Amino acid sequence: MIPVAEPCLGEEELKNVIEAVKSGWISSKGKFIEEFEEKFARYCGRKYGVATSNGTVALHLALKALGIGKGDEVIVPTLTFVATANAVTYCNAKPVFIDSHPEYWCINPDKIEEKITPRTKAIIPVHLYGHPCDMDLIMEIAEDHNLYVIEDAAEAHGAEYKGEKVGSFGDISCFSFYGNKIITTGEGGMCLTNNEELAEKMRILRDHGMNPNRRYWYDEIGFNYRMTNLQAAIGVAQLKKLDEFVEKKRQIAEWYAEELKELEEKRIIKLHPEMPWAKCVYWMYSILIEDKAEISRDELMKKLEEKGIETRPFFVPMHVLPMYNMGEILPISEELARKGLNLPSSVNLKKNQVESYVICTLRRYLNYE
Ligand SMILES: Cc1ncc(COP(=O)(O)O)c(C=O)c1O
Repeated sequence: MIPVAEPCLGEEELKNVIEAVKSGWISSKGKFIEEFEEKFARYCGRKYGVATSNGTVALHLALKALGIGKGDEVIVPTLTFVATANAVTYCNAKPVFIDSHPEYWCINPDKIEEKITPRTKAIIPVHLYGHPCDMDLIMEIAEDHNLYVIEDAAEAHGAEYKGEKVGSFGDISCFSFYGNKIITTGEGGMCLTNNEELAEKMRILRDHGMNPNRRYWYDEIGFNYRMTNLQAAIGVAQLKKLDEFVEKKRQIAEWYAEELKELEEKRIIKLHPEMPWAKCVYWMYSILIEDKAEISRDELMKKLEEKGIETRPFFVPMHVLPMYNMGEILPISEELARKGLNLPSSVNLKKNQVESYVICTLRRYLNYE
């Protein structure tokens, strides 16, 4: 089976893990944690990094640190992984869903203002499948309405908006290092910020809320959201390869785009977009199967699976899920979810695997051999 994504781990990850094990520091203290936090923050152009046990809790921690709570509303895209919306719900706040931009699939900034109420406290733009959101427009809306911005950059390590790294825009930005992400620590996440006070608040909340000046004194209810030194040991090694992984992802995207552009011209499919202001990292190279195709998206996925090619359907929009369904219709995201497909995008892929096998098989089923 050619997987949609798989980790790319090597000798250096192993060496660091062995070092951590030999040192005995295998829990959430140890030299690799701070090193990973500092280096990843610097990579993204931020001052402080707070490593967490996964990306979901990174979002929860960020919301908590900003004081989001009961009765508050937080603007999120409807087309995202469920964790973005759930993190808001964990705070007893309400996620308010925004439709996708028809061209680049992330949150549509033009649809945000109509959903802002006196209860709105924050916006969480998600850089979906590696494509950055239009951050200028989002930051402008946030400023006009005095809202916090938390970037969900779980799927977009190394992506850029107008030459600046994603994760460097909001009050806090959150990353995931799950096994299928561009760099991984197995499970893992991180919050980044330039605000020292917020960083300190997140460190305290990550460690049960313990007062840093008084052991076993807790001013509020916190969490155990710490990353282990073992995870960070892998992260430090992975981070060295991030630029190389990003280039490989972009190379894979070129292979797909080059071979499939003819199908796009015929409006059989739509290729993964990259706006002129964006450097997309194509976490998962994605296409839309248009209605003109002779095979449905789901049928195509089944056929590809039979041929040993793993694919994934797009996320189901949040406003359609039972816990969030209020009967709202957000047509662009619904259409994207119906048509969208993630193709094999692992950095381990070879050119001939993509061109001679994945693309050839895809073309055959789309009747364009
Ligand atoms: C957009 C987005 N946000 C948050 C998460 C949650 O991260 P984790 O799986 O590390 O909890 C993920 C992915 O897993 C994601 O894709």
